[in-house]
Amino acid sequence: MIRLLAALLLCVVPMLARADPVSGYDFLLPETRALQDDDFANPGMLWVELGQRLWDAPADKGSCRSCHGAPENLRGVGAVYPLWDPELERVISLEQRINQCRERQNEAALPYSSRELLGLSALVMHQSRGIPQSVRTDGPAAEAIERGRLYFDTRRGQLNLSCSNCHDDLTGHRLRGEVISQGQVNGFPIYRQLWQDMGSVGRMIAWCNDAVRAEPLAEGSQMAVELEMYLRARGNGLPIESPAVRR
Ligand code: HEC
Ligand code: HEC
Repeated sequence: MIRLLAALLLCVVPMLARADPVSGYDFLLPETRALQDDDFANPGMLWVELGQRLWDAPADKGSCRSCHGAPENLRGVGAVYPLWDPELERVISLEQRINQCRERQNEAALPYSSRELLGLSALVMHQSRGIPQSVRTDGPAAEAIERGRLYFDTRRGQLNLSCSNCHDDLTGHRLRGEVISQGQVNGFPIYRQLWQDMGSVGRMIAWCNDAVRAEPLAEGSQMAVELEMYLRARGNGLPIESPAVRR
């Protein structure tokens, strides 16, 4: 952390423009990349398989399959979430959309950090693997994205660091054995070796909040969804990698 603060103090030149988006994959060690690349070794695929079982599981008013057919029918969908929902008049995440469908099934909403919701979101995102992330930045979503950008650029926590201080200014530097990437989200949900578990964008945001000793943003809160929307917009064009493997 001392080294990090020293590096920050050296950052006297203000940032002029953001760099082109680069996936977290490019910052990984070759052995971690190899894990992600091999579907049989990638631990995230276990969640995709769980999602597949849930997709077919009978529910009060029908399975996911009974309305949507094969998961492949949702190819491309994951690449455009979060998006503006004209009925709710706010941006909603993929997890929230899936929970709307749980209501259609007359089943209880799944908690954000549950294996089930991670499995279903991993399954849906996986269908878009290779498709460029392309959330809409125009229209009514623009204001939400702007609020997300503000959150990203605002310093917070005992260490008084913004997301941007690490993920724009210090990319490529090491922090506790990890190389700081741009904080892109095109691989989510990710299998993180540090967690020995799968995690959503919301979980990652909370982890990064904790790294600077800031109040964690609650997963699924409107601010968290708007921050995710900004993160997606910031990385538009990166191919979806879900499920990515990270250290
Ligand atoms: C003190 C430095 C620091 C700050 C501040 C910070 N992060 Fe991170 N973040 C990290 C580190 C270290 C990692 C793990 C290595 C990596 O992928 O960058 C990480 C990872 C991420 C990832 C995963 C990237 C991937 O490819 O899987 C995202 C997304 C992210 N951060 C978002 C944020 C957001 C949003 C904020 C502000 C709320 C934030 N970070 C603040 C250090 C930081
Ligand atoms: C009773 C029928 C029904 C069931 C069951 C159902 N859905 Fe849906 N789903 C819909 C409808 C209707 C929409 C909204 C119209 C659309 O976008 O296709 C939708 C939309 C979606 C979307 C967003 C599609 C988009 O283009 O934005 C996703 C993702 C999704 N459902 C996933 C699921 C999952 C996962 C399950 C099982 C947990 C499920 N759905 C169960 C009817 C259903």
